[in-house]
Amino acid sequence: GKQATWGGRFSSGPAELMQRFSESVSFDARLAPFDVQGSKAHAAMLAHVGILTAKECSAIQKGLDTVLKDIQAGNFTWDITCEDVHMNIEQELTRRVPAAAKLHTARSRNDQVATDMRLFFKHACAEIDTALGMALSALLTLAEASQEIYLPGYTHLQRAQPVSAAHHLLAYIEMFVRDRERFAQIADRANWCPLGSGAIAGTTLPIDREFTALQLGFVDKKGKPRVTRNSMDAVADRDLFIEFASACALCGVHWSRVAEDVILWNSAEFGFIKLPDSFTTGSSLMPQKKNPDSFELLRGKAARLQGHVTALMAMTKGLPLTYNRDLQEDKPPVFDAFDQTMICLAVLAGSFDGAAFNEEKCAAAVSDPALLATDLVDYLVVRGVAFRDAHHIIGALVGLSEKKKLPLNELSLADVQGVSDKFAADWVDVFNVPAALKKREKTGMPGPRQVKKQLAKWKASLRLD
Ligand code: ARG
Repeated sequence: GKQATWGGRFSSGPAELMQRFSESVSFDARLAPFDVQGSKAHAAMLAHVGILTAKECSAIQKGLDTVLKDIQAGNFTWDITCEDVHMNIEQELTRRVPAAAKLHTARSRNDQVATDMRLFFKHACAEIDTALGMALSALLTLAEASQEIYLPGYTHLQRAQPVSAAHHLLAYIEMFVRDRERFAQIADRANWCPLGSGAIAGTTLPIDREFTALQLGFVDKKGKPRVTRNSMDAVADRDLFIEFASACALCGVHWSRVAEDVILWNSAEFGFIKLPDSFTTGSSLMPQKKNPDSFELLRGKAARLQGHVTALMAMTKGLPLTYNRDLQEDKPPVFDAFDQTMICLAVLAGSFDGAAFNEEKCAAAVSDPALLATDLVDYLVVRGVAFRDAHHIIGALVGLSEKKKLPLNELSLADVQGVSDKFAADWVDVFNVPAALKKREKTGMPGPRQVKKQLAKWKASLRLD
């Protein structure tokens, strides 16, 4: 193997077991594009302040390009004796370009990896934004087609009140839009350049941190460079890792709740939704089965994402400042959170693309007149009955309908007038679901005009790539 870059004070190299134990290149090699980007900017800065000649800088930058090209073409041999992505690239570069022995001037792997990861987070947040856009677009399309499909809304998993399927889907859209905002905020907090912090205490060399930050696009809205303000925090801080994993986990909580609704709706007992063949699977034993596996896996993966947040927080909470090698373990959970979030959002979009509500089953379920018992309370309130009294009266009617084994709306006028003289012949008009929804047209309510307005708003405002 190659000689470790830090080998000067050692008389023997690490044990083979230690090499296998301590390497991270098996999982951090994917940082190569960001590592090269960071090194090119660092080299440019070193030339800018006169530490590198223009010739050395250009040779280093060209060399970095060829190394990255080879990595991306699969023509690069990663070597665990070089520990991580940073040293693998630097050693190979130095083999190709001798001037690269000066590249690590005024830099440590501690500020280097912090920089790589901040570049990664900006990239990852943008990718997730696009994936969320696709999921939102699929939800919006189904919602637009489902404005006149009514189904029971539930509390305690008990039928509560009727809503349109579109209103139900719009609830998910709100959640995913908040996720989108969260990822945008995380990208903004990632947008500070740690380079120049060194290992912990900066450097005595005359570097220009703002120059590097500008090169790497760590800039505010006005284009001013953003550099981290404390060298110790910059190399020890893992807030972004935790925030990013948390945002993925919370997004997972959202798609998992969607999944749970869909799994219930897809059961024979509910039958509210039909799922596409392309995102369901069969049973190896029972020929009749069509299982909602995509949604079950979405629910399962959400748990895995929560584990990543726990791992990152537990890893960080007891660490003395500043860098400790424990922190190398910060990457697998973050990368997995990213990869799983990307594929989950794509699967969510794909599963909704071919899904459709089963109108008849929804109509049958929503025709349960008890769903409008609350509207019947309002009927009495409008006729001057105090709410608490009205609630009691309708409760008595529900009891009577159960006793008579009749649906609520099939009680006779004499029956209901026997409970309250405020009932008139028009009392049965309450049991009309579309009419009940038309009375709910204040902001945020499930009235058809409200729903249409929300759909139009999202259609216009979401950047649905
Ligand atoms: N591979 C290391 C990590 O991910 C890079 C930083 C190493 N720094 C050090 N002082 N050993 O944490």
